[in-house]
Amino acid sequence: QEVLHGVLPGAEVLVVSNREPYIHNAMEAGRVVQRPASGLVSALEPIMRACGGTWIAHGSGSADREAVDENDRIRVSEVAPAYTLRRIWISEEEQDGYYYGFANEGLWPLCHIVFVRPTFRLTDWQMYRQINQRFADAVVAEAHTEDPVVLVQDYHFALAPRMIRERLPKATIITFWHIPWPNAETFGICPWRAEIIEGMLGSTIVGFHTQFHCNNFIEGVDRFVESRIDREVQTVSLGGHETRVRAYPISIEWPPSELEKLPPPAHCRSDVVAQFGLAEGTRLIVGVERFDYTKGILDRMRAVDALLSRNLAWRDRLVFVQVAAPTRSKLSSYSKLQAEAEELAAEINGSYPGRQPVIHLIARHYEPAEVFRLFRAANACVVSSLHDGMNLVAKEFVSSREDNAGVLILSSFTGASRELSEALIVNPYDTEEMASAIELALTMPIQEQAERMKLMRQQVKEHNVYRWAGAMLVDAARSRTRERVLGLA
Ligand code: F6P
Repeated sequence: QEVLHGVLPGAEVLVVSNREPYIHNAMEAGRVVQRPASGLVSALEPIMRACGGTWIAHGSGSADREAVDENDRIRVSEVAPAYTLRRIWISEEEQDGYYYGFANEGLWPLCHIVFVRPTFRLTDWQMYRQINQRFADAVVAEAHTEDPVVLVQDYHFALAPRMIRERLPKATIITFWHIPWPNAETFGICPWRAEIIEGMLGSTIVGFHTQFHCNNFIEGVDRFVESRIDREVQTVSLGGHETRVRAYPISIEWPPSELEKLPPPAHCRSDVVAQFGLAEGTRLIVGVERFDYTKGILDRMRAVDALLSRNLAWRDRLVFVQVAAPTRSKLSSYSKLQAEAEELAAEINGSYPGRQPVIHLIARHYEPAEVFRLFRAANACVVSSLHDGMNLVAKEFVSSREDNAGVLILSSFTGASRELSEALIVNPYDTEEMASAIELALTMPIQEQAERMKLMRQQVKEHNVYRWAGAMLVDAARSRTRERVLGLA
């Protein structure tokens, strides 16, 4: 936190993201405030609480327009220093094109390589451009200085950096891409590949979670845009403007503030045992995410089933609680997944009659406190993403285990697997391997669990979200000084 305050003294910070950090809804009993299920929000929120500034986001879940003032602004003042949340309202037609269409039917499957065919429509692209322009205009309107630090978040805003640069040439723009970046061959499928890359190159810095994704991005630049690339220092020059491409592995707040309010693991365990009516001695596996086809939810249910059919002894001793928050349900790829998962859970539960249900599939949003309670109660947590930029659930699970117990089963296709190598690393496409990993986790001696957990906790503690933001801001400060010294600014 100190790093954040010290690095860019006096600089104005603006964040641009699609997802809003708080959802406000007016209910009969009063205003209900919710935190959306989003890795991006859990990472950025503590940073904004530490820095202050303005966060510009789509008021996507908030129906309560009274919560904002006449300029669509609200003060988020839970913790000092407060920051301002500026909401942008988007019509249903715009949302269909920009968010559901281009961002989530085009870029999302394109970047995750999960065999869901990306769909690109001209009308979606036009809407995407229009909304990027609206957010860029909001940045210009909200900025009080000519050289603010603008943090552009994710694949919803690939075009905004160039649009902001045109109006605020002295701004320091850091664009962070929270999802994977595929190889040039794959990215080339997108009809507007050059425009997307050129838009991002309006940034001072483009960040990804891993070096692998930085390399893929540079390959894409090389293939589709006329520019000068310096591979050694990883910079790209286009039209006299230089962009640095760097890996900044995102992380979580340490310790998560939610944990302060929670009882110790043993207490959480008894709460969860009572909640699910678990029989004495039951081993509990958990999974928590958005109901997204990139997360490998069906694959892990199949692995549980494979383990039960392979080893009868587990039939009365194993329960899997999967929390999946419905998301983007308007898209058939998402609603189909939910229906398929519900069917599979029922089928698996049906094949082991006369015992407690094997799978509890909870299709609703869990507030952070509920998630951490579940983590603390679990014997193992499964993160089986088919492809994931980082995956913060893995880090949150580790952070919740002050008792150094519990085992993390982690897909090798997550950015997190590069840092948490003491987890049981699995290929989520290999059902039998995952079944074996679950069994190994549930039989792992407590001593070994503690050794692995301590190392992972140390890693997340040292490489927390302040370090992620600090590293980007230190690089940004260096660029600002360099431009000033070289007379470029
Ligand atoms: O990082 C991936 C991401 O799409 C974020 O941009 C977003 O906040 C989160 O997952 C949740 O997705 P959505 O906002 O579409 O529900």
